[in-house]
Amino acid sequence: VYWCFKMSTWFPEQPKAWYHKMCIRILEFGPIPKHVAVIMDGNRRFAVKNSMDRAEGHLKGFDKLTEVLEWCLDIGITEVTVYAFSIENFKRSKEEVDCLMELARKKFKRLMEEKDKIKEYGVCVRVLGNVSLLPSDIQEIIAEVVTFSKDNTRAILNVCFAYTSRDEMCTAMKEIAEGVSLGLIKDSDVSEALLEKSLYTGNSPNPDLLVRTSGEVRLSDFLLWQTAYSCLAFVKVLWPEFSRWHLYGCILHYQRNYQQLQRAKEQNEADQLRLQRESDYEIVAQEMDQSETKSLHTLAKQYANDRENRVNNFVQYLHEKRDKFFHDIATKSK
Ligand code: FPP
Ligand code: MG
Repeated sequence: VYWCFKMSTWFPEQPKAWYHKMCIRILEFGPIPKHVAVIMDGNRRFAVKNSMDRAEGHLKGFDKLTEVLEWCLDIGITEVTVYAFSIENFKRSKEEVDCLMELARKKFKRLMEEKDKIKEYGVCVRVLGNVSLLPSDIQEIIAEVVTFSKDNTRAILNVCFAYTSRDEMCTAMKEIAEGVSLGLIKDSDVSEALLEKSLYTGNSPNPDLLVRTSGEVRLSDFLLWQTAYSCLAFVKVLWPEFSRWHLYGCILHYQRNYQQLQRAKEQNEADQLRLQRESDYEIVAQEMDQSETKSLHTLAKQYANDRENRVNNFVQYLHEKRDKFFHDIATKSK
């Protein structure tokens, strides 16, 4: 089976039947999610159901991922984030962990062999997670893929690998604490917006829709922060059996709930802005001295401006640090 890992492509380019084109036209009358997150669950149950071994189940899972990516592009979904390997998955048997690592090793290698397609599709591949937990050769291949594709903008694929949401939040908090101690930001700059931008997903909008297959109805430590206002779709189908029809069903579910989700999201954005403004005023009022001639309003505006600059510079610094992490691994391996 491991031998088969080499074969299948990331770009299957399947022909689309006329009725699929028609369905897409109809769906396009409503809002289409731009960013979809997927928990690809049920590979092992699929393997048992079809008397295969686990490795083959995971391989079928990978092949399904490549198909789903095409379906998403067909429909106008330009960013997809998938849960490919959780930090919790390290607790599975050694045999299975090795199998998933081998699958990743072969597939990321294969992706680098398909460089022309990466360019043609204009896809940026990011790997989100605690990459240093992975074997060093996989880190190197991942770093190559990430650095090679980083400037592409037509489509984005985020592969969460060695990822859990709580680990991501802890990492972000450590970065922020370091930023405060280095004097890049002030402790009063710490806000929901700053934490959000410091996550691995910091340069993406939050997912509009999250899909989990296999009938499980939990998030399993995946994008807990980012899905606060996402539409959740739990589908009772094993991941390798997921079809275009299931995807259309999820989009309809998103469209039916769109207004309500949008209202909640906008309300939250307004609340966050108000809280930030109140905090700016409070800080300025506390620091203001008697002889100050400028109005509180002017000072608060100035303060907000400086705060935004500090935060943006810090976020930029974090992104550069992550780029450098991958860049260093990629150049070391050459
Ligand atoms: C969950 O099914 C699936 C996984 C833990 C692995 C998912 C990985 C892929 C589909 C391949 C991705 C590879 C790359 C290189 C991006 P499960 O094992 O939990 O199955 P079960 O729920 O039936 O037990
Ligand atoms: Mg599972």
